Amino acid sequence: MITCSAPGKIYLFGEHAVVYGHSAICCAIDIRTRVQAEICDSIIIESVLGRTGIDHDIHPYVSRVIEKMQDYTRIRGVKIKVDSRLPVGSGLGSSAAVTVAAIQALSHLFGCNLQLEEIATIGHEIEKEVQGNASPTDTYVSTMGGIAMIPQRRKLQALDCTIVVGNTGRFSSTRELVASVARLKREFPNVIDPILADIGTMSQIAEEYVSKKDYATIGKLMNVNHGLLDAIGVGSAELSALVYAARNNGAFAAKITGAGGGGCMVALADEPNAQLIAKAIRDLGAESIITKNTHEGVRREP
Ligand code: MEV
Repeated sequence: MITCSAPGKIYLFGEHAVVYGHSAICCAIDIRTRVQAEICDSIIIESVLGRTGIDHDIHPYVSRVIEKMQDYTRIRGVKIKVDSRLPVGSGLGSSAAVTVAAIQALSHLFGCNLQLEEIATIGHEIEKEVQGNASPTDTYVSTMGGIAMIPQRRKLQALDCTIVVGNTGRFSSTRELVASVARLKREFPNVIDPILADIGTMSQIAEEYVSKKDYATIGKLMNVNHGLLDAIGVGSAELSALVYAARNNGAFAAKITGAGGGGCMVALADEPNAQLIAKAIRDLGAESIITKNTHEGVRREP
């Protein structure tokens, strides 16, 4: 049996804009999805969502991974078990994490010897197929770990602040939210295109401050990014309440992370304030998670 795991992620900058080729800065977090793979007589996929064979409704990502890996090896039967600490459909990259962890597990199990770049590329193809449109960000960062500037695929210095995630618990469909931004962009190109370009510019400006760990300046820019995500229609009253609660409790920055709609917001903070922010988030009825940036991407577990 082979076990592999991959981390989730938060966006410091650039979600949605990155779908149109603008820059984003994305950060792997120390919350992982584990995938166990073993040879068996038929194809079985097991997770909290149920026990299925190839099933594009219940297990779309793992089903696509098994099909895609047939290009590299012959898979007659395999049992895949998914165990994730990342809430599904919350904007923390659970689909990218399960995808790249499953690719690596099958690669080891069937001796395909896929390298990290290949895993990230196959993962991105699968996300595009399942989601309709996807940037390479989530799958790249989940594969490589650390912090990366996308689409340049440039690794940045690790962050040493605390990351507080606030989860509204409301399912957020990346596919639908990407499509809703596309509709708004078609309707008002002269309004929405510059906003997306500004988000990309912000990511580029922020690169220097991320490298210097200048949290005050990163924070100012992330807060502006939150406003622009609201402007393109992926915010919600609930997310904004959590964002303002975090800012009022000493966060350097707080913004939506991921596709938005429901899902999660993220705050950067120092350790004492992180506890206050987590409590303020819980007081509003949301789940809070305190985590850190991790340099470890997809990996084989002992
Ligand atoms: C989802 O985690 C981030 C989006 O930018 C979509 C993508 O990059 O594929 C909304």
